[in-house]
Amino acid sequence: QEFRLDIIAEYLPLLLRGVLLTVVVSVVSIALGVLIGLFIGFGRMSKLAALRLPTKAYIHFFRGTPLLVQILLVHFGLIPLVLGTTDAVIAAIAALSLNSAAYSAEIFRAGIQSIDKGQVEAAYSLGLSRGQAMRFVILPQAVKRMIPAFGNEFIVLIKDSSLATVIAAPELMYWTNAMKNQYLRVWEPYLTAAFIYLILTYSMSKLLAKLENRQEVAGWA
Ligand code: ARG
Repeated sequence: QEFRLDIIAEYLPLLLRGVLLTVVVSVVSIALGVLIGLFIGFGRMSKLAALRLPTKAYIHFFRGTPLLVQILLVHFGLIPLVLGTTDAVIAAIAALSLNSAAYSAEIFRAGIQSIDKGQVEAAYSLGLSRGQAMRFVILPQAVKRMIPAFGNEFIVLIKDSSLATVIAAPELMYWTNAMKNQYLRVWEPYLTAAFIYLILTYSMSKLLAKLENRQEVAGWA
């Protein structure tokens, strides 16, 4: 039984259209996820229980339940509730952003808490306020430590966006399944999809390595 390159060639335009949506969904979701995660993360570190407890629950929920279940809940529950109707792409972006926000929140927290206490004490002794110490002393150092983790998060997001195929968001996995269903063949669609995801994640990790290297060379890591 031969490997049918002809059906891969036939589906290539559709797969590439899927890749485009995979990339768009991933980029938008990481951006929204980091933004929402910033608020969740600072809420999580707050002294106020009214901020700390709900954000803690948020993080527990999104890290403790399967992303697949979250995507279904958002698509069939949350989005219809908010918009009155649903849309697979919007639901995919919403679910991935909300999920990624929980992980991003912990990256912010880990980054900030990794800065030595002596740094803050030194800042206070120089007369800086709490906010100034955060802005001028902690954050500039913490952000550098967060960058690799956010890069990782983006790579995870690219792969996990494939779960959006269950709500028929027409990303890469959706067209892969279409190919499988039309020809009832396994190796061609799934190996092609695996290969394309690998190109995406590999080039991303190369890009990140370069970025981190540059930080080191410039001496600000
Ligand atoms: N694969 C996990 C799930 O199905 C989601 C993992 C998300 N991880 C992450 N670092 N964003 O629930």
